[in-house]
Amino acid sequence: MIKIRNLSKSFGNKRVLSGLNFEARDGETLVILGSSGTGKSVLLKSIVGLMKPTNGSIMINGADITKCSSMELHEIQKKMGYVFQEAALFDSLTVEENVAFGLTALSDLSKKETTKRVEECLSMVGLKGIEKLKPSDLSGGMKKRVAIARTIAYRPQYIFYDEPTTGLDPIMSDVISDLIIYLRDNLKVTSLAVSHDMKSAHKIADRIIMLYKGDIVFEGTPKEVDETDNAIVRQFVSGSSQGPIEAERTFQL
Ligand SMILES: Nc1ncnc2c1ncn2[C@@H]1O[C@H](COP(=O)(O)OP(=O)(O)OP(=O)(O)O)[C@@H](O)[C@H]1O
Ligand SMILES: [Mg+2]
Repeated sequence: MIKIRNLSKSFGNKRVLSGLNFEARDGETLVILGSSGTGKSVLLKSIVGLMKPTNGSIMINGADITKCSSMELHEIQKKMGYVFQEAALFDSLTVEENVAFGLTALSDLSKKETTKRVEECLSMVGLKGIEKLKPSDLSGGMKKRVAIARTIAYRPQYIFYDEPTTGLDPIMSDVISDLIIYLRDNLKVTSLAVSHDMKSAHKIADRIIMLYKGDIVFEGTPKEVDETDNAIVRQFVSGSSQGPIEAERTFQL
C-alpha cells in the first residue's frame, strides 16, 4: 500500500504540491488527473524516490521513503516500476537488451532465464518476436509496450505510468488500457497512472483523484466522476476552455 501524508513540493518559491493526502490500495489502479503543469509527474517522481519532496511522508509497504537510508530506498525501488512519459528506451540497444536492462541490474537471473523472461514479457504485451529490432524500428505504440515489458520484467509490486496513452491513436490507446487492466488482474500489481485521456482513465481506474493548483479537489470512482457537479472536474472531463481552470492563452479570442 502507498500512503501519502501532507506531501508538498516547492521549487524555490514556486509551490507545486501543497499538502497532499491519499492512498493507493493494494491491487488497485489509481488514476491521477490534472491539467498540464499541475505537478502530476513531480508527484510520481517523488513517490518513486527520483525527487525529494519538501515536506510530508510517502509510506510504501509501511516504510517512509522520505526518511529511510539510500540502501533501504534502493530495496523499495526494486519493487517499483516506472513507465516514463516518453518511453525512454535506449536507442542503441535492441528491444531484447532494453527489456533485459532492469533484470540485469535488479535480479540475479541467469542468461538463459533472462532470455526466457524477456520473451515472456514481450509476449504479454503482444510483441512476440521483435527482440532483435531497435527502438527506431518501432511505432509509438510499440515503444510504449516495450517500455511496459521492460517494467514488468523484474516483477514489480507497484507500477507508475506517466501518461501511458498520450500520443497514440484511439485503438492503440485502448490496447494499452487493456494491458494495464490485464497486468492489474494477472500480476496483481498496484498502479498509479497519470492520464489526460479520459476514455482510458475511465476504463483503467478503480479510483480517480484530480489535482488542481497543488491540491486534490476530487477523489472518487469513475462513476462518481460522471455524476459529480464539481465544476473543476466537469470542465476537465468535457475539455472546455471555459470554467474555473484557466487555460493558458497565447492569443486573444
Ligand atoms: N526540476 C524542476 N525544477 C523546477 N521546476 C520544476 C522541476 N520539475 C518540475 N517543475 C515545475 O513543476 C510544475 C509541475 O510540473 P510537472 O512536470 O509535474 O507537470 P505535469 O502535471 O506532469 O504536466 P504535464 O501534464 O504537462 O506532463 C511545472 O511548473 C514545472 O515547471
Ligand atoms: Mg507530466
